[in-house]
Amino acid sequence: MGKCPKCGAYNSFKEEVVQPRFKDGSRTIPGLSGRSIPRRIGEVGGDVDERLPMSMAEFARVLGGGIVPGSVILVGGDPGIGKSTLLLQMAMAMASKSSPINNPVLYVSGEESERQIKMRGARLLSLNSVHLDDPNQDLSGSDFPEDLFLVTETNLDSIFEHVQEVKPQLLIVDSIQTTYIPEKESSAGSVSQVRESASRLRELAKTSGITVFIIGHVTKEGAIAGPMVLEHIVDTVLYLEGDRYQSYRLLRSVKNRFGATAEVGVFEMRERGLVEVSNPSEAFLAERMVNASGSAIAVTMEGTRPLLVEIQGLTSPTSFGNPRRTPNGIDFNRLLLTVAVLTRRVGLRLADQDVFVNVVGGLKISEPAADLAVAVAIASSVKDQPLRADTVLIGEVGLNGELRAVGQMNARLREAAKLGFKAAIVPRRLRFGEPWPEDIEIIETRSLRNALKIGLLSGSKNEGG
Ligand code: TYD
Ligand code: MG
Repeated sequence: MGKCPKCGAYNSFKEEVVQPRFKDGSRTIPGLSGRSIPRRIGEVGGDVDERLPMSMAEFARVLGGGIVPGSVILVGGDPGIGKSTLLLQMAMAMASKSSPINNPVLYVSGEESERQIKMRGARLLSLNSVHLDDPNQDLSGSDFPEDLFLVTETNLDSIFEHVQEVKPQLLIVDSIQTTYIPEKESSAGSVSQVRESASRLRELAKTSGITVFIIGHVTKEGAIAGPMVLEHIVDTVLYLEGDRYQSYRLLRSVKNRFGATAEVGVFEMRERGLVEVSNPSEAFLAERMVNASGSAIAVTMEGTRPLLVEIQGLTSPTSFGNPRRTPNGIDFNRLLLTVAVLTRRVGLRLADQDVFVNVVGGLKISEPAADLAVAVAIASSVKDQPLRADTVLIGEVGLNGELRAVGQMNARLREAAKLGFKAAIVPRRLRFGEPWPEDIEIIETRSLRNALKIGLLSGSKNEGG
């Protein structure tokens, strides 16, 4: 009301939300009838390791083996990267007849109409007869999973009503930026709406055992109203990354209360949705040019999985004053440091060269084990000498130009051997632990300078192809 009917004052009304109460005074959760009751630890139900198995093995791997009932999972990523596609695919798989769950899956979208989602679903199901641009096309078909419900809704109260009606086992909210709580004044997507909506969804999950997947967009401006404010509210944070213009997508867990973090699942975006890549190293190396200068193979650990990736370096004379250093897939400061070490400790002339480094396949490498490959790729480009094609490089480069040991060496070496690499240049081992794997030649060395001497094929210029 604008005017108070009693005293006549304008704008004197303040909104206050009244929570329904039980007789004993305990508060209910909006949209839910559950009440909290303290229980003895031994009496709390549910096996600790109870998980719903998934048919998408790469997704399951990132979650730590499957879906934990009652957990809240945030899937973040740039707009257009494939979050909706991934979760619709998961929803269809989990709602299909062969799936282990008996209750429905509810997919709530604030971004697309039910029909749009259905068309996407048809595309994923590879219904060849469907013409996606024909709006009058009849999409009714028996191929769609019986137990998948779609609704376009942004009002969180209505979403909770739908949840009570459908009683799903999995709830997908696409996206948190479009959902809003009507009694809050701020607009959808604002920090307080995002945070409050997520908290209520968490309460829903914890009291009902429904697993909630929340999609969140990462904004270029540093994700202020995006997943960052949510990370501590949810149990698991997954990021879907990759280059929009390339087909590989990496699903990475950055927080997981129920599994290892930094676990990575690899997918490829195809015409008919995301396809799992079960042997990513092979895929990342597929387009490599053997014997080209400026290319080196690193072995990086993504969670528990070793991945072989090609690192490309390119140097070219600077045309105006300041030489540029442009990394793609590695950290900028790490590149500066590597260039400084190559200049001072190896004696390469880089002061008048622009340096570009690219990690092939859109992967982002954060661990220092790739330092050696980065340094060698740059050196190989400056000298225009290719690297031994059958060799991988593993090691951190220190400020003195020394090579430093990195963890999980044997897992890395075994993966390299499995893919047919014959040799590995690694930091000299000072402490002896597990013996080296036998099916790959190990070349231990202490300095970057020496690694270059061993690795670069001298004299052979630009024979590659
Ligand atoms: P989408 O899941 O809508 O992204 P997000 O929800 O993260 O914003 O993905 C959109 C992109 O994926 C779009 O550019 C089209 C592409 N795509 C495919 O290449 N193949 C497919 O089968 C589907 C469904 C989408
Ligand atoms: Mg989307």
